Amino acid sequence: EPKEVAAAEAKSEAAKKLKIGLYFATWWALNVVFNIYNKKVLNAYPYPWLTSTLSLACGSLMMLISWATGIAETPKTDIEFWKTLFPVAVAHTIGHVAATVSMSKVAVSFTHIIKSGEPAFSVLVSRFLLGETFPVPVYLSLLPIIGGCALAAVTELNFNMIGFMGAMISNLAFVFRNIFSKRGMKGKSVSGMNYYACLSMLSLLILTPFAIAVEGPQMWAAGWQTAMSQIGPQFIWWVVAQSVFYHLYNQVSYMSLDQISPLTFSIGNTMKRISVIVSSIIIFHTPVQPVNALGAAIAILGTFLYSQFLLDDKEDTCIPLPTFLFPK
Ligand code: 3PG
Repeated sequence: EPKEVAAAEAKSEAAKKLKIGLYFATWWALNVVFNIYNKKVLNAYPYPWLTSTLSLACGSLMMLISWATGIAETPKTDIEFWKTLFPVAVAHTIGHVAATVSMSKVAVSFTHIIKSGEPAFSVLVSRFLLGETFPVPVYLSLLPIIGGCALAAVTELNFNMIGFMGAMISNLAFVFRNIFSKRGMKGKSVSGMNYYACLSMLSLLILTPFAIAVEGPQMWAAGWQTAMSQIGPQFIWWVVAQSVFYHLYNQVSYMSLDQISPLTFSIGNTMKRISVIVSSIIIFHTPVQPVNALGAAIAILGTFLYSQFLLDDKEDTCIPLPTFLFPK
């Protein structure tokens, strides 16, 4: 019988890997589509505070409809839940709007090269704010991450300070969001999908007054006229697409966060950025110098080294994705 038990275990392990693999592939594909439409919209209509708000509003509406019609089960939440969610929502709002502001100023690929340095921020925050220590190789892996991002930044042809800082602020905010949200999801009866739905709604409430204060309806209306006259009615569909796909990719990423450790999540996220960087360079004909691409490659390689060293240290129960995708 031990043989049968082992066979059954291997089978369920393989099924789990397949399921996670499907989540990841969906997450990346949805994210690429989001990034493309988001940039198309921002090019014609440079109001990142409004487009970020619309993404959250669209997701909130989709989930309210799903709950009302029974497509998704309405979560049972109490005041305690919303209180714990609040800091997550603040971090999500800041990270989201900062990344969108960044993408309104620089190439999508540049924002995502800087955002590939997110793991470095995670180590620094864990070290200096949570007092967690790591073995030396983990710290050393920060050198290629930071060095690669720096090289890519200084050789970027269309460098812009707001674009750079937006991506950096987004990195910092999302480290906090991931730490808080994994804690908040632990032992809770709310599923990943519903957790993200509640997060969208709370973030929408937080962001709306700021979006009105920073940009406001007058600018939005004038810009809308211009965009519609330049692009035509299909501009509306671009806005709808960026909003719907923003919600969907985040929903799928939270559904996979249910199944995996934060570490696996961040490896998956870095691989996602590679697909976004490559596809956006192709679609938007972004000019890249070889040394610029080298910087990005070093940063991304550093992120993989980082996750490998961290994995050795933590004996994390996560699936090390590189080995999962490229079996020995
Ligand atoms: C956003 O608009 O929130 C950013 O594009 C998000 O970036 P990420 O989900 O790829 O970290």
